[in-house]
Amino acid sequence: MVERKRILSGMRPTGRLHLGNLHGALDNWVRLQEQYQCFFFVADWHALTTDYASPANIQENTWDMVLDWLSVGLDPRQSTLFIQSQVKEHAELYVLLAMITPLPWLERNPTYKEIQDQLTQKDLATYGFLGYPVLQAADIIIYKANGVPVGKDQLPHVELTREIARRFNFLYREVFPVPDPLLTEVSLLPGTDGRKMSKSYGNCIYITESPEEIRGKMLRMMTDPARVRRNDPGTPEVCPVFAYHKVYSTAEEVAHVAHGCRTARIGCVDCKNILIKNVLARLEPYHQRRRELEQDTEQVRAIIQDGIGRARAEARQTMVEVRAAIGLTANG
Ligand code: TRP
Ligand code: SF4
Repeated sequence: MVERKRILSGMRPTGRLHLGNLHGALDNWVRLQEQYQCFFFVADWHALTTDYASPANIQENTWDMVLDWLSVGLDPRQSTLFIQSQVKEHAELYVLLAMITPLPWLERNPTYKEIQDQLTQKDLATYGFLGYPVLQAADIIIYKANGVPVGKDQLPHVELTREIARRFNFLYREVFPVPDPLLTEVSLLPGTDGRKMSKSYGNCIYITESPEEIRGKMLRMMTDPARVRRNDPGTPEVCPVFAYHKVYSTAEEVAHVAHGCRTARIGCVDCKNILIKNVLARLEPYHQRRRELEQDTEQVRAIIQDGIGRARAEARQTMVEVRAAIGLTANG
């Protein structure tokens, strides 16, 4: 049998994940597990690049995120799940890659400027923040990943990873495959206010919040603003609720809701109730699994310990090659 190709991806620990994360990255990761040898990790060092002054939540967020990963079907028997900071070899490779990365490659990275402009309340004129993509390159190539599933925002980082891998191979020896980005489809779900779903807007619905909370948020969710009274016909295409129907409801339900909305035969509450039923049915197995995992933290710790062990074994092997390629050995 041919070795399955290897993919790797990471997420910064942001805590509980929302439906945008589910229908963007996570569903995709769960599918990829069938086809590839997968490594998925919590990028807690990367979280420190922006949150170094208030690291208090990183640990709790890490475990919250891991629980969500397992709840939605990341399977530790198929994939290696681990925490970046527990595999110190990433840091060693990061140092070595830092030596060969030209400064202008980092300075012209578009995300560097963008995030600095967005997070103006934080001082991001740090060495670590500038080096963010070098650490990310180390994360990826230390496992000799062939593919990196990421959203569009991460493409410049993967491109930089490719350049760094090529430069290493050119300067020393062909150690690293040059990884391809695997672009993740963006989630079609807006937030409850119709804008992009994002923690910073406070418009998220979380995968594993309680059915009551989900119901409440959906009942308060924005609808077609032109549909003021029950008798006003609406335009489903402009309504965030309808965007959800397209993801969660059957084709018949979507047709029924669209027609009912345009002709004012159904009210928004009827429309939302159909949606709520479908969303809760889809999420129920995840809620169930999350409850089981919360009861059994020992098991979760063991899963991650096992993943850390497997990741470390791979990373160590690569580092033996890397040191040899550069000529860093104890007994020259
Ligand atoms: N920078 C990524 C993000 O913010 C997280 C990340 C860190 C990552 N290392 C990685 C993603 C390696 C893919 C591969 O989402
Ligand atoms: Fe939106 Fe449904 Fe109301 Fe139409 S009926 S405006 S699709 S919530």
